[in-house]
Amino acid sequence: MKILSIHDLQIIRKRAEHHLSLREESNEKVTEKCYGLASGAQHLQILICGGTGCKASSSQGITDNLLKAIQKNEITDKVEVITVGCFGFCEKGPIVKIIPDNTFYTQVTPEDAEEIINEHIIGGRRIERLLYVDPKTPSNRPSISLLYPPIGIP
Ligand code: FES
Repeated sequence: MKILSIHDLQIIRKRAEHHLSLREESNEKVTEKCYGLASGAQHLQILICGGTGCKASSSQGITDNLLKAIQKNEITDKVEVITVGCFGFCEKGPIVKIIPDNTFYTQVTPEDAEEIINEHIIGGRRIERLLYVDPKTPSNRPSISLLYPPIGIP
């Protein structure tokens, strides 16, 4: 839609309101629960880093494969794939974040895309091997969510 007036802009803003609020709500809470279509989630967003570092590590290939898997499973009306800016964690990219449960996957490859759709998005099960493991955490337990840009994390 071409923006020709302030009214056009208001229409676009109104249309995007729901999606933006979904992200805001998600950022307010970290949940242990993993949401998937099998657990009753109505709408999920997959945020893919489109920053330079992640792009250089094939984030476009991840996007392409996610879209193919979404189409294959006929869930295009329930799942959105959105390219976003740098998360500030480039060394662990490509980064993929799932909304609303705030799952933060690191070092994702295009080959992981189908598993993300089948396991997480449809099945509601996190993929442990893609979760970030803080080397300073004694238990080496994967971190489900990194809400804020993890500046300072080695
Ligand atoms: S470029 Fe993806 S986290 Fe920075």
